[in-house]
Amino acid sequence: MRILAIETSCDETAAAVIEANPSDKKVKLLSNIVASSLSLHAKTGGIIPEVAAREQVKYIMPVIEESLRQAQCKSYDLDAIAVTVGPGLIGSLLVGVETAKTLAFAWQKPIIPVNHLIGHIYANWVLTTNKKQLTNNPSTPLRASKLEVSFPVLALIVSGGHTDLVLMRGHQQLTWLGGTRDDAAGEAFDKIGRLLGLPYPAGPVMAKLAQQGNPKAFNFPRPIIDSNDFDFSFSGLKTAVFREVKSQPPKAGSEQLLTDLSASVQQAIVDVLVVKTIKAAQKYKVKSILLGGGVGANELLRKQLEASCGKLAVKFFAPAKNLCTDNAAMIASAAFFNLAHKGASSAYRPVPWQKIKVDPDLHF
Ligand code: KG4
Ligand code: ZN
Repeated sequence: MRILAIETSCDETAAAVIEANPSDKKVKLLSNIVASSLSLHAKTGGIIPEVAAREQVKYIMPVIEESLRQAQCKSYDLDAIAVTVGPGLIGSLLVGVETAKTLAFAWQKPIIPVNHLIGHIYANWVLTTNKKQLTNNPSTPLRASKLEVSFPVLALIVSGGHTDLVLMRGHQQLTWLGGTRDDAAGEAFDKIGRLLGLPYPAGPVMAKLAQQGNPKAFNFPRPIIDSNDFDFSFSGLKTAVFREVKSQPPKAGSEQLLTDLSASVQQAIVDVLVVKTIKAAQKYKVKSILLGGGVGANELLRKQLEASCGKLAVKFFAPAKNLCTDNAAMIASAAFFNLAHKGASSAYRPVPWQKIKVDPDLHF
């Protein structure tokens, strides 16, 4: 089964083609194209929704064409079109959804609506075995051998807009356990980075600076780390950094201060994420922990979660780093698993394209 997926929920315009076999449930990536308008948003220190949507319009067709070309696929080779319907920016989502509907109508293909957050989880099921086809990141590690996810699964989704813990007793058996009460983990990195004068998105920049810094230099708060729920809160951390920066603003030549601040902030965020995730894993006796979302590319988070999972004898999975940030391969993977588990081809029911609608506030 070949699926073309389209993802346009924010500032990335992405298309991917996967080949997946319902009998062995292996998701092979044939192409994975991501065009980003990030450099435009770096100038304004954040995303302006109208600007992002206009860029989506410019890139959507070239990105889809390139993904079909790289997959050596014609429209008649496709079995379905998957598309992100939410959550996200309404203008950006509309570009992807309307394009998917038009192609589904023109090519007479079924269309599969996908929740972006569930897509982040399913990035973990994408096999990235063919280096050549991963043109966006040729250095992506090969991960075919690690693909034995056992249920129950706990998924930690950490992105620019979301921080959620989700229990999966099986495909399509998702229970939301908790999430952020204010800023998401990625948003915390981005807003704190802005306080420090760093470019948007600040998460990867701070992670790099942190390599040279001392994570114990500042004892920043770990908000609600001991609460009896699976919620998160990062706005207090932002306030603590604000106070620190006000008392000693980083200036040119104060690189050590910037690296120490970055390392201390990163450690505070990672500590909270790891402690809450492990607590949930123990409570629900999960067999696997899956990481997903842009902050999932953070090396410290990956290492510390993996180490904690090792102690609990729980399997740990994290997607290749270029599949943590927004992409369409994860959308195709989510579409495939949610179809395949309805009973493979016999239950493969196309959704009429007229019924597909964007939902910017979609949750679990
Ligand atoms: O999943 P994503 O690409 O988009 C959303 O769905 O939000 O996540 C983007 C977020 C940004 O906040 C960015 O700062 C953060 O992921 N991010 C990181 C790293 N790479 C991306 N945060 C920390 N460390 C990283 N290495
Ligand atoms: Zn995302």
